[in-house]
Amino acid sequence: MTRKTVRIAMNGVTGRMGHRQHLVRSILALREQGGLDLGDGTVLWPEPVLVGRRAHALRALAERYGLTEWSTDLDAVLADDTVDIYFDAQVTAAREDALKKAIAAGKHVYTEKPTATGLDGALQLARLAEAAGVRHGVVQDKIFLPGLLKLKRLVDGGFFGRILSVRGEFGYWVFEGDWQSAQRPSWNYRAEDGGGIVVDMFPHWEYVLHELFGRVTSVQALATTHIPRRWDEDGRPYAATADDAAYGIFEIEGGIVAQINASWAVRVHRDELVEFQVDGTEGSAVAGLRRCRVQHRSATPRPVWNPDVPATEVFRDQWQEVPDNTEFDNGFKAQWELFLKHVHTGAPYHWDLLAGARGVQLAELGLKSSAEGRRLEVPEITL
Ligand SMILES: NC(=O)c1ccc[n+]([C@@H]2O[C@H](COP(=O)([O-])OP(=O)(O)OC[C@H]3O[C@@H](n4cnc5c(N)ncnc54)[C@H](O)[C@@H]3O)[C@@H](O)[C@H]2O)c1
Repeated sequence: MTRKTVRIAMNGVTGRMGHRQHLVRSILALREQGGLDLGDGTVLWPEPVLVGRRAHALRALAERYGLTEWSTDLDAVLADDTVDIYFDAQVTAAREDALKKAIAAGKHVYTEKPTATGLDGALQLARLAEAAGVRHGVVQDKIFLPGLLKLKRLVDGGFFGRILSVRGEFGYWVFEGDWQSAQRPSWNYRAEDGGGIVVDMFPHWEYVLHELFGRVTSVQALATTHIPRRWDEDGRPYAATADDAAYGIFEIEGGIVAQINASWAVRVHRDELVEFQVDGTEGSAVAGLRRCRVQHRSATPRPVWNPDVPATEVFRDQWQEVPDNTEFDNGFKAQWELFLKHVHTGAPYHWDLLAGARGVQLAELGLKSSAEGRRLEVPEITL
């Protein structure tokens, strides 16, 4: 086996996603398993170079994980020819400029979503990356979740017959921050800092719907701010200017209708923090992050509407668990592995900056639809 080092500049690793999911659960987990076997006698050894604004935070992170390389000078890191890949998990508003610099420096780029704050910027990134001949990828982690992988298996196996509709329910209560601290960063609730649930979640809905059921052709959304005042990380009150709930209806090619609610102002009465119910002529499924349950046409009960008597059946008990039948790895790590293979072997990879731009497009049109109070077509975008 030949060991080949791949040097990855990781920007935004002191943040929630950058730290936990990308550094610890993906890159460090890959090192713990001995690197990534490319299947051709080569093992890739990821070497992170931590990048950020605060030296003390980066030093502490590096020391904690026994890493030696960190820098507060992004330009210098990008000018280093030994750095192969630039990864970005910064706050959304800081992403576009950093990605442009990395592409101009000839780095392959991998990034969190949303890739930019608007469709024009997101498309420009995709075009710049193509023109520069660098490889590019965007995090689309939800389709790598065990629950959704099982749902995809059902779709591919033809379980549903003709798929009619999808209803998704996402959300949980995010504390306002006064009497209990908020469990999400305060910038998420300020539109001027790139926050908002539409910008955050519609990119996820785009690739989930697209990969499982087909391209989204129209959107109708109502975005609102249920909690207008919150308290930040320092206990200071601020005006929550961004939407914290979005109720969306999406048409999908082939006539499937999807309806997805997303809210940070909802209390959970579900089995998981996100759940999708899919109804088809032959059967239905409910998939969450980890679980997936089905009800076949042949086992569908016959409820009769009668408000005069208590419910006679326990409806949840009438569903059957879909078995794992395999071992599921962390979704972020699984996608990192595919991206690293793509960079080093040219293996196909379609979760790229154009796919990322479709997510930004859906968010942009979702907000426009809400502001104008009407349904909007989603035109197909190309490079
Ligand atoms: N794929 C997913 O499921 C998922 C989930 C949550 C967030 N995200 C995305 O990941 C990105 C980071 O989100 P997060 O929740 O980790 O945020 P966070 O606030 O926890 O982390 C943000 C990171 O960016 C850095 N940063 C750079 N410039 C900054 C600036 N001007 N102000 C403040 N911080 C700055 C911070 O130091 C920190 O390292 C966002 O773009 C978000 O959309 C993706």
